[in-house]
Amino acid sequence: MKGLYCPLAHSRPDIHRDSEVNSVFDSIQIRSRTIQSLTTTDYSMDLSVNIGKLKLKNPVMTASGTFGYGEEYADFVDLNLLGGIVVKGISLKPMEGNPAPRICETPCGMLNAIGLQNVGLKTFLRDKLPYLRNFDTKIVVNILGNSVQEYVRLAKTLVDTGVDGIELNVSCPNVKKGGMTFGIDPRSLAKLITAVKRTVSSTVLITKLSPNVSSIPDFSRVAEDAGSDAISLINTIPALSIDTETWKPRLANVTGGLSGPAIKPIALRMVWEASQAVSIPVIGIGGITNALDALEFLLAGASAVQVGTGNFLNPKATIEIISGLAAYLRRKNIQTIGDIIGGMKGTKSGHNPDH
Ligand SMILES: Cc1cc2nc3c(=O)[nH]c(=O)nc-3n(C[C@H](O)[C@H](O)[C@H](O)COP(=O)(O)O)c2cc1C
Repeated sequence: MKGLYCPLAHSRPDIHRDSEVNSVFDSIQIRSRTIQSLTTTDYSMDLSVNIGKLKLKNPVMTASGTFGYGEEYADFVDLNLLGGIVVKGISLKPMEGNPAPRICETPCGMLNAIGLQNVGLKTFLRDKLPYLRNFDTKIVVNILGNSVQEYVRLAKTLVDTGVDGIELNVSCPNVKKGGMTFGIDPRSLAKLITAVKRTVSSTVLITKLSPNVSSIPDFSRVAEDAGSDAISLINTIPALSIDTETWKPRLANVTGGLSGPAIKPIALRMVWEASQAVSIPVIGIGGITNALDALEFLLAGASAVQVGTGNFLNPKATIEIISGLAAYLRRKNIQTIGDIIGGMKGTKSGHNPDH
């Protein structure tokens, strides 16, 4: 890593995380960057954005699987300040996930093969959702299933309990069955979205796209045409790391999903391509660790962002990004965050003020 710039910060062993996540980040020896002048808290600026019918007080959400069920971070982050919380992917039945080791560090990123471990719908509704309801933030539930029927059942039950949004996970690379089958086949994806949207018409439906497809614009259009209210991207990128002492893969699952700053430029390109292809809102995800990263995604056309691996590096990353965005607006004398969205200059398509 010597000589390479990388914004991964030091780990925070004081926060409760998956013990595997802790052990990986305790060993990170990468230079951190101080974001000068982006630390001012200024909540008077208008940071609100709309994701279809869903109004967020600011464009910063948490990415599924990296913020637990919210409670795990409540000692560090006032959850009321967040634009939204996207909880860990929920399936009908609890899932144990893949065998350990399931996480390892890579340059400027991490590999995970958690395998969608989660508490299952029943426990989520009984133990997790009531806690989240105490906060003035939007709750989006990431769901995963093995069939259209499973997705529909999950979505219907969750919408009936009043969650603010559903995010369809059709893009997890770490399980043999399930979501990914839908994410890489346009016909299956369209069928799934149509069925879920029919069931949950009053609630915002976000489709989380896989980066593992030949054409992001094509899949973005499939999601839009099938009735998705928004798309979010990207999920992790399938990748491999090998221990040169043992000659074994570092993960028991052999491959895992790459996340963190290493994937940011790829994610940014895909978010830009997606926002050019559709008129529904795009939510940018991938390697966002500070306000400047978030700004890049907004300029590329994202209406909101999700922070993932950044939470492991700095548990306060989300709120620092929110205050950093407000400080940026004030410094540039820009009235609302909407004036930034899609504002990247020097491209043929230019600014798209509708997003
Ligand atoms: C440990 C871990 C668990 C994840 N679990 C989920 C999940 O349950 N559902 C999902 O859609 N994405 C999941 N993701 C993907 C993230 O939500 C996000 O799309 C990805 O990590 C890229 O963003 P990042 O670079 O900011 O982490 C997970 C990622 C990590 C690192």
